[in-house]
Amino acid sequence: MEKLLIKGGKPLHGKVKVSGAKNAVLPIIIAALLAKTPSTFDDVPLLEDVRAISEVLKCLGVKVDDSVSHTLVVDSSNITDCEPPYELVSAMRASFLVLGPLLARKGKARISMPGGCAIGARPIDIHLKAFEALGVKIEQGHGYIVATAPNGIKGATVYFDFPSVGATEHVMMLASLAEGKTVLENVAQEPEIVDLANYLNKMGAKVRGAGTPVIKIEGVSELHGAEYTIIPDRIEAGTYMIAAAMTGGDVLIENVLPEHQKPLTAKLREAGAVVEEDVDRIHVVGSGKLKAVDIKTLPYPGFPTDMQAQMMAMLVVAEGNSKVTETVFENRFMHVNELIRMGAKITTEGRSASIEGPAQLTGCFVRCTDLRAGAAMILAGLVAEGQTEIGDLHHIDRGYENIVEKLTGLGADIERIENENV
Ligand code: EPZ
Repeated sequence: MEKLLIKGGKPLHGKVKVSGAKNAVLPIIIAALLAKTPSTFDDVPLLEDVRAISEVLKCLGVKVDDSVSHTLVVDSSNITDCEPPYELVSAMRASFLVLGPLLARKGKARISMPGGCAIGARPIDIHLKAFEALGVKIEQGHGYIVATAPNGIKGATVYFDFPSVGATEHVMMLASLAEGKTVLENVAQEPEIVDLANYLNKMGAKVRGAGTPVIKIEGVSELHGAEYTIIPDRIEAGTYMIAAAMTGGDVLIENVLPEHQKPLTAKLREAGAVVEEDVDRIHVVGSGKLKAVDIKTLPYPGFPTDMQAQMMAMLVVAEGNSKVTETVFENRFMHVNELIRMGAKITTEGRSASIEGPAQLTGCFVRCTDLRAGAAMILAGLVAEGQTEIGDLHHIDRGYENIVEKLTGLGADIERIENENV
């Protein structure tokens, strides 16, 4: 097993380039299942989750060529199976989105129920309710879901009880090949939804309204492959913005869309950091003493839940008391205990955490409990006194391309070593 060693106290300086968005590329690669000709994707991030979804598709007979770095060619012309293997699907929740495209292409799909994870139960009721509204027959049993469409997939109007990102993406894909018109109301508005819609439309789909609460889709009979460049990862970008602010550094973040960072930019400015926006770059200068701010996570365009842990790492060293409220997931405070072990002063009650700052963090051995909690531990290590050791790095590798190299390039004292005692 490997671990990270971080010696804290060094302000970050220099430039860092953001990679393609994990949460855009995963549904987009899956959507390539809908086409009978190949698609080519550029700016594909080198992440474990991309490798995982590629393996799922290969098991279905899809050809996936990743021989050129940051590029992926996906050829779904010949799908030979309609059931991805349990061990691959259970390893990564996003694989569940394969159900809709497989059903649309093969008329039947069988997939294991996605389990919960560290941050919550992660139910799929919104996905299934929308599928049934489009004429899909869902059978559940023995940990599996079997989806068929005995009378075809027919457009319908569906109201989402919650603007679920995955459910919005899943139903957009299915409705693209339905008969007739689909109207989806109260859907997710994240930039990754817009990216998927743009790719679907390049494939010949007719998706309108992505990025607003109402999406309208005219079903078509067939989709073709397309060339597509993935948007920058707004969560990776935000992680480096926070790193610059909390280390009192001066960092230029390249390949980022400022309009995707508005909630974080506003909060960093409120905390006293300088944030300058350019067309596709953001310059962040941290002040010596950041001020406490309150955070409440919400579906886009609210403050992103995927930035909550990283922001909390900054707030524990800010001057004053902060409150963090997590409204999207029911158990996304797994990083709190790890931060407390480093000296943070945090108390939680339900979905709220109260933070008393500034705390003087001291390095110790901590674990990553999930992807963004892992990022929060790295951020805490960058400002802690002494050395921080971080284990369970597989969580980090799922969502951050070359994070050690990128932070080293900014002057951090960080290295990845074999962990001989585990
Ligand atoms: C996507 O997960 C992201 N993952 C998550 O990022 C992100 O945190 C989340 O959206 C919210 O923005 C990918 O895009 C691969 P949801 P998803 O469906 O689609 C409830 C990361 O760190 N819900 O919007 O699974 C659910 O329980 C990851 O990169 C239902 O109740 O999120 C949760 O409380 C973590 N029923 C809330 O909605 C459903 O049928 C948000 O879930 C579906 C969801």
